[in-house]
Amino acid sequence: MKIFVDTAVPEEVQAAKAIGCADGVTTNPTLILKSGREFKTVIREMAALIEGPVLAEAVSEDRDGIVREGVEMAKWAPNVVVKIPITRAGLEAATVLHREEIRTALTLVFSPTQALLAARAGASMICPFIGRLDDIAQNGMDLIRTIVEMYANYPEITTEVVVASVRTPNHVVESALAGADAVTVPPKVIEQLMRHPLTDSGVRQFLDDWKKIRPA
Ligand code: G3P
Repeated sequence: MKIFVDTAVPEEVQAAKAIGCADGVTTNPTLILKSGREFKTVIREMAALIEGPVLAEAVSEDRDGIVREGVEMAKWAPNVVVKIPITRAGLEAATVLHREEIRTALTLVFSPTQALLAARAGASMICPFIGRLDDIAQNGMDLIRTIVEMYANYPEITTEVVVASVRTPNHVVESALAGADAVTVPPKVIEQLMRHPLTDSGVRQFLDDWKKIRPA
């Protein structure tokens, strides 16, 4: 399973890359706002850091506007993928961009039917938001399991399932068990994936004992 970084901060992409956790990058307007950086500049910077996809979100609400944005963003770097909310206009735009051979990721996916339509529109990826389903007392992981199972029935579907709105290490483990193609993880959760209190105490003890053998 690929691990993407959910951030709009290039330094965080670099840090994730250093431990093999930057197969891709996902952004959204909220993350761009938090970064305090200019959209195009930050996307281009991150696209230069990695070979994998960097998802940049379109904000127009009509088909032609999304297509215009998508065509423009696709010129920023060869690995930019146009992220589009899965509305009617979004699906129409994804269909047009697919014909133009521009890669898209349909986002804010919350149901199996949306996932099916995204595949039919030729989306390269979908981003189902599991944390936000958990927030309203639905089971986000059930959605992932259903989509993966549905897509597996149709080998011609090449749309990748990128699990998003990941809040805990368990979301990552369960995504791997479900057979998701990728999971996009915020830097804070990447840190949690790596750390274990027994590793920390074990390292401390080994170093203390080493000092007893070889006093400084
Ligand atoms: O990848 C989508 C993510 O940025 C949204 O996460 O935690 O705001 O639901 P969250």
